[in-house]
Amino acid sequence: MLNTLISPSILSADFADLGAEVRAIDKAGADMIHIDVMDGHYVPNITIGPGVIKALKPHTQKPFDVHLMIAPVDPMIDAFIDAGADLLTIHPDAGPHVHRSLQAIRARGVKAGIALNPATSLDVLDYIIDSLDIILVMSVNPGFGGQSFIPSQLGKIAEIRKRIDASGRDIILEIDGGVNPVTAVQCREAGATALVAGSAVFKGSGQTYAENIAALRGRHNNKHSAENISPVKQTA
Ligand code: DX5
Ligand code: ZN
Repeated sequence: MLNTLISPSILSADFADLGAEVRAIDKAGADMIHIDVMDGHYVPNITIGPGVIKALKPHTQKPFDVHLMIAPVDPMIDAFIDAGADLLTIHPDAGPHVHRSLQAIRARGVKAGIALNPATSLDVLDYIIDSLDIILVMSVNPGFGGQSFIPSQLGKIAEIRKRIDASGRDIILEIDGGVNPVTAVQCREAGATALVAGSAVFKGSGQTYAENIAALRGRHNNKHSAENISPVKQTA
């Protein structure tokens, strides 16, 4: 049986030992590695740049799920792809021409995602759904790990699920922020196919990561198995 994709956020890992942490979550069964990039401008925190991502790449074969919380985002897209991003998610208010940014990502053979902050309407999806491989619903305000899940986002997830199904496209619906074994069930029931989790995965020690990841998985079928995360086929 296929499982919900679990993408542990290394924001909650030991920054002094990131290579070992990435190897540990790989071994513990992570499907992807979620990397939160923050610039101290779009969000009030500064984290990881392309140099660190490049250094981590040899530590795992798992796809790098890179979440850019930076503005302006366009000048940095190529640098993060060169560093090893396999999926690259941007925020719609991080640049003037979102459609062009998504095209630029897909033109490099990388999966393109849009991230919706808790207060962002899903109207932003109206004219870009054909350019998307991932829709990431922020269930906390971006900037920090360890925050509480905002329940109003469950309705948004369910609405987006309908839009994805109506589009007939194979789009990953990923939830990011405050995901724990309880909210994970709610997210899956609302239609999520991928879950980001930082504090819920990295609690305890490397020995407990597998248990932590298993606790986030349900018994639901999910067509988004890690094997299916193949390079984007560019259409137009
Ligand atoms: C917040 C980040 C999240 C965050 C998740 O800006 O995008 O990925 O690290 O952390 P937890 O799972 O602890 O809420
Ligand atoms: Zn994130």
